[in-house]
Amino acid sequence: MIKKIATDQLQVGMYINHLVVGWLNNPFTSTKFLLKSKNDISKIRDAGIKWVEIDTTKGSGVSLDKTVQSKAEASVKQQTKSAKEELESAKVAFEDARQFISGVMNSAKMGQCVELEQVEPVIRKLSESVLRNENALLGLTHIRNMDYYTFEHSVSFSVLMMSFAKGMGKSDEFICAVGVGGLLHDIGKTITPDHILNKPGKLTPEEFVIMKEHVVHSRIILEKTEGLSQISMDVAAMHHEKYDGNGYPLGLDKDQISLAGQMSAIVDVYDALTADRCYHKGKKPSEAIQFLLKGSGSHFNPQLVQQFIQSVGIYPAGSIVLLNNDYLATVIEIKDNMLKPIVEIFFNTKTKQHVQTELIDLSTSTDLKVKNVDSYANWNIKPSIA
Ligand SMILES: [Fe+2]
Repeated sequence: MIKKIATDQLQVGMYINHLVVGWLNNPFTSTKFLLKSKNDISKIRDAGIKWVEIDTTKGSGVSLDKTVQSKAEASVKQQTKSAKEELESAKVAFEDARQFISGVMNSAKMGQCVELEQVEPVIRKLSESVLRNENALLGLTHIRNMDYYTFEHSVSFSVLMMSFAKGMGKSDEFICAVGVGGLLHDIGKTITPDHILNKPGKLTPEEFVIMKEHVVHSRIILEKTEGLSQISMDVAAMHHEKYDGNGYPLGLDKDQISLAGQMSAIVDVYDALTADRCYHKGKKPSEAIQFLLKGSGSHFNPQLVQQFIQSVGIYPAGSIVLLNNDYLATVIEIKDNMLKPIVEIFFNTKTKQHVQTELIDLSTSTDLKVKNVDSYANWNIKPSIA
């Protein structure tokens, strides 16, 4: 049930359904989230917010007794981990998912259909990791092997979709459904001839017509998967549709594209732009975000673009930044302020030498800040994640 309450009634364990505040002034990265600590409550009050909406189906209600409250706090504590703590589980989940989608695509090439029972354990591992702390998996989406582009794009797509849905406060069921759709969305590419799929450079108009057919093939293959949800199917069938009706394969108008379909258009472009390909370097996340903003209202739903930016942040987990002390650092986690993430320094650009890694929370540092977005390639360093 949705309830409007005064912010002085807030308690840990409540689920904020709506925070009435512009995203630049929002002390959080979302307007829907679970109150995990007293600190979260203080931030809302400190931002001058007097009223909020809570969802009692996702969190506790008012007048929580002490026992229930401590249980809620304990369960939140159990569910959440720091990005560093989550990294090992995230690596296993990512690798399992990559191997799974590679096997499924090979089977699909031979005409076998996808069994939902096979997908579920893979998505469970990924979604549990996203729910504990999405930053670990999001960081891994930046460490890619160009030889496995289609498989890794599928896993990254799935992770980004789940993280996006989590940031929007969607149910676990919705989060898993968009994750399944994300993992399987490009399965139709198994029908696309390799010379077109892996062509380095621009496709001819004729080749592009063939390339575009992968969406139709994805739908045809997935229609044979018993029990697949409509949400998962929409992700696969609508990820190239555009908000203004100029997308493919059907040229659907915005009213005809479901929420999952509109979200998938954003995620597909963001991930494709940021990934390295054999013929071009991936764009920096901030450049990809600029591209999304340019396409707001034409290619993409503008409100969803804003929500996506909130979910990945200006400096997404895994991206490389140059600090004002000339050290390179990896973004590890965005906590409260998307402009001041927790970073791990690893390289001194003045001496051009690796340094002992060290975690720094920029939100608590008075001197250190991000100077600009950088890349491994600029300094001839091999990507790695500790
Ligand atoms: Fe696609």
